[in-house]
Amino acid sequence: MVKNIALIRGDCASPEFVAQAVRVLDKIAEKYGHTFNYTETYMGGSAIDKFGDPLPQSELDKCLASDAVLLGSVGGPKWEGLPGPQRAEKGLLRLREGMGLYANNRPAKIWPQLKAASPLKDEIVDKGIDFIIVRELIGGAYFGKHTTTVNEHGEKEALDLMPYSEHEIERIGRIGFETAMKRNKKLCCVDKANVLDTSRLWREVMHRLQKEYPEVEYREMFVDNASMQIVKDPSQFDVIVTENLFGDILSDEASQITGSVGMIPSSSLGDGTRGLYEPMGGSAPGHAGQDRVNPIAAILSGAMMLRYSFDMNEEADDIENAVGKALDKGYRTADIMSEGCTLTTCSGMGDAILAEI
Ligand code: IPM
Ligand code: MG
Repeated sequence: MVKNIALIRGDCASPEFVAQAVRVLDKIAEKYGHTFNYTETYMGGSAIDKFGDPLPQSELDKCLASDAVLLGSVGGPKWEGLPGPQRAEKGLLRLREGMGLYANNRPAKIWPQLKAASPLKDEIVDKGIDFIIVRELIGGAYFGKHTTTVNEHGEKEALDLMPYSEHEIERIGRIGFETAMKRNKKLCCVDKANVLDTSRLWREVMHRLQKEYPEVEYREMFVDNASMQIVKDPSQFDVIVTENLFGDILSDEASQITGSVGMIPSSSLGDGTRGLYEPMGGSAPGHAGQDRVNPIAAILSGAMMLRYSFDMNEEADDIENAVGKALDKGYRTADIMSEGCTLTTCSGMGDAILAEI
């Protein structure tokens, strides 16, 4: 198969781990007789430097013309002082919106080899950590109106609106139920229905959908409680569906309990198969240029791209197995290092994984 990939290498340390993902994808292409064409695309800090805009139309067009987008991480101190609309992160938000990617899928799964890296006690980890957060990605407070004005007392007042309409809830709610159907058929809708109207509307829509999925064991949980339950007993979760801001926060918490954010890939999809794949962690400005960050999340994002956008399941399995074998052999980057293992670099981990494909 021939596939066209828009490649956003990202900022700071990001190009280093994206390079490892590309090496792995190239090896897969060679092994299985595929051709992956990459189009260098700029978004975030690199686009600000090149075009003075975190996502110019030309770059969004490249993404829209591709079969999938592979992204590293954007942003860094260099671009932090810029006004809201010109921030590097704004490029990411506009990309998600421009591609219509409303469903963000973030797996929280512990690799048995990395049990020691989890901050949770063994007795909690031993019960298993394997759930997915389905986060609504292009609605809510991220995309509502933001204003800062001066009120009648002469003080500044800021406002961020959190709108959700029924169709926005329904399409993500459906992904939640469909994802649960493919897994252990347990869905938990996380909200703040004791306070927010948007959450009460979510529940109304979810109850309608629930009738279509009688096999799914469905429940609801307030977000404050959910954040406690994720550290107290993560084994209770299979699929969590939630709105944008809650999903942002809970997915960081969920990634941390698995040991390192450097291990977690993510996919963002809309109605078709064209998706955006990115590691969950940041651009690690403090580690840039040191060949030291963990490339596994980026490599696994590549595997997710093969699985969800290209329907290449065997190839995706191959990558995931290779990651497992490299970990079995004891290779660890600094973020997941533990006693008795072999400390390696970003490219060293890339080598170790390539050797298993
Ligand atoms: C994420 C990030 C982004 C978000 C930032 C960089 C805008 O934290 O993908 O979780 O909040 O969505
Ligand atoms: Mg986040």
